[in-house]
Amino acid sequence: MEENLKENNTINWFPGHMSKTRRLIAENLKLCDMVCEIIDARIPQASRNPLFEELLGSKPRIVVLNKSDLSDEVKNKEWADYFKSKGAFCMLCDSKNKNSGAAFEKLCKTAGADILEKRAAKGITTKKLRVMVAGIPNVGKSTFINMLAGRKVAAAQDKPGVTKGKQWITVGGASDLELLDMPGMLWPKIETHRQALLLCYTGAIKDTITDTEHIAGTLAVILNNKYRDRLKERYKIETTDETEPHELLEKIGKARGFVKKGSVVDTERTSEILIDEYRAGKLGRITLEDARDD
Ligand code: G4P
Repeated sequence: MEENLKENNTINWFPGHMSKTRRLIAENLKLCDMVCEIIDARIPQASRNPLFEELLGSKPRIVVLNKSDLSDEVKNKEWADYFKSKGAFCMLCDSKNKNSGAAFEKLCKTAGADILEKRAAKGITTKKLRVMVAGIPNVGKSTFINMLAGRKVAAAQDKPGVTKGKQWITVGGASDLELLDMPGMLWPKIETHRQALLLCYTGAIKDTITDTEHIAGTLAVILNNKYRDRLKERYKIETTDETEPHELLEKIGKARGFVKKGSVVDTERTSEILIDEYRAGKLGRITLEDARDD
């Protein structure tokens, strides 16, 4: 994987399996009645693959704002309204909670109402609605599918070299739905530094390819701007609009007692802890992007 986040402000890669996944999606789309795009409710725009717009075409689209248990309740509603205003069917989902399954089945039937009607007119009543499930890695696609299937389903692998026959997954017991799992897919060039960072905060892009202190410092700035009360509550620190990224990390590190010899704050360790705690929801429910009309 080629990357250079700091110098070029973009992350570039084009592993072979990304183009394989692209082909796989294109080939299988014709077998499906609709597409379910799973995104991360904490970063709803950044966790959308821009290639999907063209690739997934005009089939009915269900946008699942997954991990909505970790994202801000007010922002969840704003984002759901945003996607609905763009013509998608949309639902909030906590895939770790099986109660989301019924809402998904209902939404698929609404999205597929025209298809079901046309089939009924032809006397076809037993054919199931087929739904392709797509998304970038780490948005919770496997967890979502397992929750719907009510069992652990062997996931479509994101990694190269792992092939598996097509697998239609039946939802629940006597459901009218079948799912087709696609491997998680990123895209060749992440255009903006901001988007790359948002994907790092949630773990969609692995930390090993970027500078942890840079990720944590910029995350701390967003938290300080949007959720200052949470920083205050968790780390008992006082900050202002002007507090710089490094200063934020130092304050957090000091508050947590991560101090090395000579009273120097261990900002590396602080960075890891801040990122871990954010991902685990220990700072509360947080959404890092605002819904906007673009
Ligand atoms: P993927 O197939 O899209 O790559 O994602 P996967 O299901 O493997 O989920 C990635 C991580 O996100 C997992 O955590 C999973 O438990 C968590 N997750 C998925 N959906 C939700 C959700 O709706 N809410 C919350 N809170 N978490 C969710 P992990 O720490 O990597 O694994 P695990 O130890 O939880 O199994």
